[in-house]
Amino acid sequence: MSAPMLEMRGISKTFGAVTALSNVSLRLEAGSVLGLIGDNAAGKSTLMKILAGALRPDSGEILLDGAPVNFAHPIAARDAGIEMIYQDFALVPELTVTQNIFLGREITRSIAGLRVLDRSTMNARSEEMFAALGLRVPAVTLPVQALSGGQQQAVAIARATGFAARLVIMDEPTANLGAPAIARVRETITRLKNAGVAVIIISHRLEDIFAVGDRFMVMKQGHLVGDRNVDDTDNADLVEMIVTGVDARAARDPVADPT
Ligand SMILES: Nc1ncnc2c1ncn2[C@@H]1O[C@H](COP(=O)(O)OP(=O)(O)O)[C@@H](O)[C@H]1O
Ligand SMILES: [Mg+2]
Repeated sequence: MSAPMLEMRGISKTFGAVTALSNVSLRLEAGSVLGLIGDNAAGKSTLMKILAGALRPDSGEILLDGAPVNFAHPIAARDAGIEMIYQDFALVPELTVTQNIFLGREITRSIAGLRVLDRSTMNARSEEMFAALGLRVPAVTLPVQALSGGQQQAVAIARATGFAARLVIMDEPTANLGAPAIARVRETITRLKNAGVAVIIISHRLEDIFAVGDRFMVMKQGHLVGDRNVDDTDNADLVEMIVTGVDARAARDPVADPT
């Protein structure tokens, strides 16, 4: 059997006395959409920050196409084709929309042998990104702090999806959006999937994952409770796992681990 695109094995992480993650493993195929669900403090954001290089695990390993990787910094994860949309968007308020989108990967041009920022190309590219996503901001030259919450979220989505080669992680991407924008986020996820880019979406809105996802993974208090294909579960089944922290179906019908 060939290696999955992504594997996280036995990831653990503590913050002082708090065990945020305890021996959590995850597998993800290229172009698949995984919904990561669970109550507050389940460890969802921490697991994804580790995958995006924003936090280091205490133990465990990450493999891409079967080869171990070590993300010491978000830039290392980005170089590997992994982008994350953070719950708080992680934008720099004073910088413009375009500057946020190209932060750390600025386009330059040469004038009389000097490298200078190519602002007009970057502005044009970011306008194209918003147009392609069907998302709107008043102007890409405005500082991000002048935008509404929903518009800032659009910037975070454009920044991540415009560059991701392999995987986009979305932490509560539809939390602050109205119905039309939620529909466009769903379209974006489907477009990424069709392009072979995998998506992990953390969401309390199970209906978003039922609409565009392939699989759910349920966490509680730092543990993986269980996982389900979207066509093999329903709200009641998932909510029971979220609340009880037990996969009653697996307990009823134990199957041999295929690996
Ligand atoms: N930087 C941090 N410092 C201390 N505790 C943290 C930090 N980040 C997360 N935690 C704790 O780790 C646990 C898991 O948090 P988190 O991953 O944010 O859960 P979720 O995203 O599922 O709500 C919680 O108890 C939270 O308080
Ligand atoms: Mg969270």
